[in-house]
Amino acid sequence: MRIGILTGGGDCPGLNAALHAVVLTAMVHHDTVIGFHHGWRGVANSEFEELTRTRVRGIIQRGGTILGTARFHPHEHEGAIDAVLATLKAQKIDAVLVLGGDGTLNASFELTKHGVPVIGLPKTIDNDISGTEQCIGHDTAVAIATEAIDRVHTTAESHDRLMVVEVMGRMTGWIAVESGLAAGADAILIPENPVTIDSVVEALQQRHQKGANSSIVVVAEGARVANTDIEEVPTGWPQLAGSPVGAEVSRTLAKRTGFETRLTVLGHVQRGGEPTARDRILAAQLGRAAVSYLHEGLTNILIAGIGDGIRPVPLMEVTRGARTVPEELRQLAMQLTVV
Ligand code: F6P
Repeated sequence: MRIGILTGGGDCPGLNAALHAVVLTAMVHHDTVIGFHHGWRGVANSEFEELTRTRVRGIIQRGGTILGTARFHPHEHEGAIDAVLATLKAQKIDAVLVLGGDGTLNASFELTKHGVPVIGLPKTIDNDISGTEQCIGHDTAVAIATEAIDRVHTTAESHDRLMVVEVMGRMTGWIAVESGLAAGADAILIPENPVTIDSVVEALQQRHQKGANSSIVVVAEGARVANTDIEEVPTGWPQLAGSPVGAEVSRTLAKRTGFETRLTVLGHVQRGGEPTARDRILAAQLGRAAVSYLHEGLTNILIAGIGDGIRPVPLMEVTRGARTVPEELRQLAMQLTVV
């Protein structure tokens, strides 16, 4: 077989580990693996390389993606779908393995309607892809955010400060809830639970009246916090990290509580660097399964991590919208924090 592969959307740790697993599994089947550069854009522009054993040697632990990535959705660009079809035909590609998040996988589902056989592998630090419970990159991002919040704790305590830590999470609060719980945050603000800034102010004031002299507020970049000067979290694809949610929450809390306040924006630090062991193993499992299911004749599927298992689900699952933090986990966060 001739297998195409690409990485699309925001990068994350673990992508290279998945490429490594795909190439090694393909070798067993005597397949050729063609790696397209910068997501679907590389397919449209016919930019690719053969991924050999030598090319993927030593990349398991390396962050980012050796193929490069882009947020390029062919159905949004005139002529791009025809260009994609022409490249795949010219290269005699039997199926395209797509390492993507919500946007890239939805765009790939669109391409299946034009006859492109696709196998999706879920990856995003945000962990919000429908159809799977696990996404490559999320475990690493939570580990990085947890360590950062731990560090912020000690300086907060030394200075008697209120510290606001903004983490990624455009549509959902997975990183905020998990890292906030793990690091003992005092308030966790996420898109799924809209709050008013007044309730946050009141809860923090009560906490300090009861003897606390510092507090940590974790804010997902897409959190919805009413009664601040933030009008609406912008739609489309504006840069969120660093603006406007974390800055506005920090500014308003400082003004309303009178506590000395500092803001830390973790931003792309959460997406860079080495993957955790868990992400490397998940990447290996998904990569191997993708090639194996392809040889069983399955396409237009998502290789899902569900519970302890890896199994194929229809690719259409990804179109069901962002997978939000379940109620049980949200409740736990609310019980262990003041907001
Ligand atoms: O990949 C998901 C994500 O990390 C979001 O959490 C974040 O909002 C976005 O990517 C940032 O994208 P960019 O790198 O294009 O600014």
